[in-house]
Amino acid sequence: MLILETERLLLRRLLPEDLDALYALYRDPEIRRYFPDGTLTYEETKEELEWFLNGHPRHPELGLWATIYKPTNQFIGRCGLLPWTIEERDEVEVAYLLDKAFWGQGLGFEAARACADYAFNVLGLTRLICMIYPENVASINVARKLGMMLEKEMKDEFGSYLIYSRNKPPV
Ligand SMILES: CC(C)(COP(=O)(O)OP(=O)(O)OC[C@H]1O[C@@H](n2cnc3c(N)ncnc32)[C@H](O)[C@@H]1OP(=O)(O)O)[C@@H](O)C(=O)NCCC(=O)NCCS
Repeated sequence: MLILETERLLLRRLLPEDLDALYALYRDPEIRRYFPDGTLTYEETKEELEWFLNGHPRHPELGLWATIYKPTNQFIGRCGLLPWTIEERDEVEVAYLLDKAFWGQGLGFEAARACADYAFNVLGLTRLICMIYPENVASINVARKLGMMLEKEMKDEFGSYLIYSRNKPPV
């Protein structure tokens, strides 16, 4: 099911046949460097993929979506919108992860911006966040380009992470 289309990308629901392509990204230490759970095994990737097959189980309008590079029809990552509860507040995070062969061409921002526009204009959300480790400069720059501002620093068992946020722009 198609969720979003941009100039160079399609974002669609994940499919069981995306497993090998997704695993190729999730097993890569460079791509997974700033994720608390690090690289994933094939089984862990399969579990995550299955969790998102019909959108997020509790919020099917949200989820991680296969990100397809239109010029070659290649699976190059997964991006989307994830629900969290942080300090008793319900939040939605813009999430993005791309194959490193495609970094630095504006595709991360293209996907993230499309997800944010979709969240505000189609889903009617009024606030979005990104949760980012302070060393993840690429991700911080994507969040800043989305118009997000640093809101606070939080700590978990893996260390400090930053919450960037923004509200829906006024109409
Ligand atoms: C984060 C990620 C999606 C960015 O994707 P990308 O396609 O390379 O990003 P873009 O080309 O759209 O760049 C967006 C902005 O970030 C900047 N940027 C990108 N990579 C950067 C880097 N390594 N260092 C500093 N700035 C960087 C770009 O210059 C651009 O800003 P500009 O337009 O002002 O020049 C990609 O690095 C990725 O998949 N990383 C691994 C997964 C991950 O960490 N996800 C985020 C978890 S919080």
